[in-house]
Amino acid sequence: MVNVLIIGHGAREHVIAETLVKSGANLWAFMSFKNAGLEDLSQGKLKVHSETDFKEIISYGKQHNIDFAVVGPEAPLVVGIVDALEKSGISCIGPKIEAAQIEGSKIFMRNLLEKYNITSNVQSKRFNSLTGLENYLDQVGDKNIVVKPDGLTGGKGVKVYGDHLFSRSDILTYCRELIAKNSYFLIEEKCIGEEFTLQTFCDGKNVIGSPLVQDHKRAYEDDEGPNTGGMGSYSMSDHLMPFISKTDVESALNDMKHVVSAIKKETGVEYKGFLYGQFMKTKKGIKLIEYNARLGDPEAMNILPLLKTNFVDICYDIKDGNLKSNIEFMNHATVCKYLAPEGYPVSPLKDQPIIIDKTKIRKIGAKYYYASVYREEGKIYTTTSRAMGVLGIANSLEEAEQIAEKGVKCISGKLFHRKDVGTKKLLQKRIDHMNSILNG
Ligand code: AMP
Ligand code: GLY
Repeated sequence: MVNVLIIGHGAREHVIAETLVKSGANLWAFMSFKNAGLEDLSQGKLKVHSETDFKEIISYGKQHNIDFAVVGPEAPLVVGIVDALEKSGISCIGPKIEAAQIEGSKIFMRNLLEKYNITSNVQSKRFNSLTGLENYLDQVGDKNIVVKPDGLTGGKGVKVYGDHLFSRSDILTYCRELIAKNSYFLIEEKCIGEEFTLQTFCDGKNVIGSPLVQDHKRAYEDDEGPNTGGMGSYSMSDHLMPFISKTDVESALNDMKHVVSAIKKETGVEYKGFLYGQFMKTKKGIKLIEYNARLGDPEAMNILPLLKTNFVDICYDIKDGNLKSNIEFMNHATVCKYLAPEGYPVSPLKDQPIIIDKTKIRKIGAKYYYASVYREEGKIYTTTSRAMGVLGIANSLEEAEQIAEKGVKCISGKLFHRKDVGTKKLLQKRIDHMNSILNG
């Protein structure tokens, strides 16, 4: 039996672990916060401790003869967990520190894309003071920009003109805030279009795609409210989006292949693990919004349950530089809805009980994943972040959405979710938006 260590504590790690166990792994878990799903899947073989304390992780891994570790979240990746574990003889699924900077530093990412002429790149300039800033804004136009802190912000640091910033003074106020934190930041060209996520498996040379997913970053229905880690996501049975063609996907995948080879040329390090590309289809073509050095959350929940190929074998192939192009996914649609504590993301209600009617959920056929919740004496409680992911899988998007929505109704507590994720109405809005951009 293969001993696999999962590192991380959210719904993404829950679904990674579920897929590993389904593929025959004997699961061990290491997490900074006890996830009830990981506790159950590992049958209690877990340690709760900081995910960036590499010494402890190595000691835990060695103690249990781990064959390889899968790193779920970005935080340990960008500070070198893979380098540390591999140095001590524990193989990892995830990129080394230099390669993980594709997510850890947006400045590194944009410089790389520029230097290697990667076509999906957009114009950007870095700053760490107000020097030259207003000149640059005059040049590009206030309305055409996005402000992005350089480092990790959990999806909440990006501010877009027209969405979060409405005047020169708003832009300068935000930039001053970042300068006060000693943060470098980018002023980036604002793209207009529809976003999609392409998650890939990479072995250093080969980059294999998976079904496209669309996430919903805004907290409230109809894409209103503040940005969040992602309130839900869907994928279609043909693995595309109605507004994203096969050619678009090929273009995005080609870019990702160029990025993987550019990382090798630039850093000498092969990119191994999962590479997540968030793109936008615009009038000017497919543009890159961001790269992540890991699977998406919620997007991992849309693709891993569809995997037909054995996931443990895929991990070995990533590790050994031996990935094959025949990774298969079921031709089903998926809809994932996140339940978040009332008030999330601004003032979330924590320590509130959640009641899950497991029998009813199972009957409906929905799946559920624990995110930032804790279990005490058999009861589940909220924290300050997204609570539970509920997934519907079916032949059509409509059916998948209904399963997810019915599943959500089996979970009660002081929670909210976006009812519109995966609905026909919202999908049509996306299609109309894309058409108006392409034909406008
Ligand atoms: P990120 O954390 O980079 O994913 O950014 C969060 C959200 O901000 C993205 O999902 C987009 O909706 C938006 N965003 C980021 N960069 C851009 C851009 N260059 N143009 C337009 N929107 C952007
Ligand atoms: N769903 C966005 C992310 O995983 O970063």
